[in-house]
Amino acid sequence: MSYFREHRSRFLEELKAFLRIPSISASAEHSRDIERAAEFVATELRQAGLKAVQVISGPGHPLVYGEWLEAPGKPVLLFYGHYDVQPPEPLEEWISPPFEPEIRGENLYARGAADDKGLLMILIKALEGVMAVRGRLPVNVRFLVEGEEESGGEHLAEFVASQADGLKAHAAVICDTEMFAPELPTLCVGLRGILYGELRVQGAAQDLHSGVYGGAVPNPLMALAEILCELKDRDGRLQIPGYLDRVRPPAPEELAAWSRLPFDERRYLEQEVRAKELTGEPGYSLLERLWARPTLEVHGIRGGFTGEGAKTVIPAKAVAKLSSRLVADQDPQECAQLLEQAIRKATPRGVTAEFHLLHAAAPSLTDPSHPLVQAAARALEEVFGNPAVYVRSGGSIPVVSLFDRYLRIPSVMMGFGLPDDNLHAPNEKLYLPNFYRGIEAVARYLDLAAEVV
Ligand code: BES
Ligand code: ZN
Repeated sequence: MSYFREHRSRFLEELKAFLRIPSISASAEHSRDIERAAEFVATELRQAGLKAVQVISGPGHPLVYGEWLEAPGKPVLLFYGHYDVQPPEPLEEWISPPFEPEIRGENLYARGAADDKGLLMILIKALEGVMAVRGRLPVNVRFLVEGEEESGGEHLAEFVASQADGLKAHAAVICDTEMFAPELPTLCVGLRGILYGELRVQGAAQDLHSGVYGGAVPNPLMALAEILCELKDRDGRLQIPGYLDRVRPPAPEELAAWSRLPFDERRYLEQEVRAKELTGEPGYSLLERLWARPTLEVHGIRGGFTGEGAKTVIPAKAVAKLSSRLVADQDPQECAQLLEQAIRKATPRGVTAEFHLLHAAAPSLTDPSHPLVQAAARALEEVFGNPAVYVRSGGSIPVVSLFDRYLRIPSVMMGFGLPDDNLHAPNEKLYLPNFYRGIEAVARYLDLAAEVV
């Protein structure tokens, strides 16, 4: 559609304006920016021609909702995106400042460029274009945008559970995932879930001199390390009793399809990861380890003395931030209990340890043969000129499991990020050709989805 070509530069300017808002959901000091980002999205949805657009304030960060339901007999698609972003730190590693979008080569650099503001704008601009040219859409659309995705906020769960009737749809459409490789249009049909929490260890009632007391009193930092090493062995196998019982192995056909994906493990190690070697559970391919096996990772450890020079102290407490990615059919509540039990068992004498859950989301799988998924594969192939591949992702998009559970609909996940887009890292970027092709692919999808009855 020539509309899309003619309006490219305006689309880009609007995306840049969106990226200038530092809508970091994790920090309270950005609550004004969160509101501005929600307003920005509402304005965009109105401009696209959606009706009943509203910013819904309540507990937590505002939701934005809009709809266009004037295609009787046609499928209802529930579009979803998030306007919040990850914190930009470490700032000194950004080549251009995170909230001053800059184009270098064919990439647009800014926090949120690919995750998820750029991809959210793909959805909005596709609707805008079709609406502007035809005055209507070929399908019915509901559009829900949230601002707590990156911080694991759980207010959306209450909303989806309580408004399930008002969100009724045949499928969700989400652009918040990645392409497997440049030029390879990708549908994501599986996401991991997550448990995220703090492990808090307490020893003595206060810090103690390590010479005067050392040898006779518990050290919570050591205890923390001991607990962590009990939960996962040196080969990367989780040692939490019962934890893996519900893990559903991928079907042989799915594994075979993964092995045909163009994946160069060496390039992955040397150019993407840049460590000495890859690690993880023996006996599973790398993609299986990333997509179909649960994890346990430590994100940070706090406690004791970390300043310059030396201080001989035995700290009174230590805290580790932990997460565990979950795969189908693990249940977050059950896993949290099993993890707590394992922590209790692994706690050495002299200290107390408690696991404080911060947020949880269930894993999800989508049936790739669903007609509304197949329609997406055709739209992607037409616009990108290559057949779409089906992948899973190790990341989590909590809303997908909420749509599974409360709306009982599949999520069609067309991803337009690239593996080198630096999601959650310094110098996040969006490959601009994907921005424009993404818009055309989603627009084409509307027509193909309209034919699904
Ligand atoms: N868009 C990502 C998830 C993602 C990334 C899916 C790459 C597929 C490929 C999402 O915004 C994200 O990062 N989610 C968090 C969720 C968590 C905080 C509950 C995640 O996965 O860490
Ligand atoms: Zn995202």
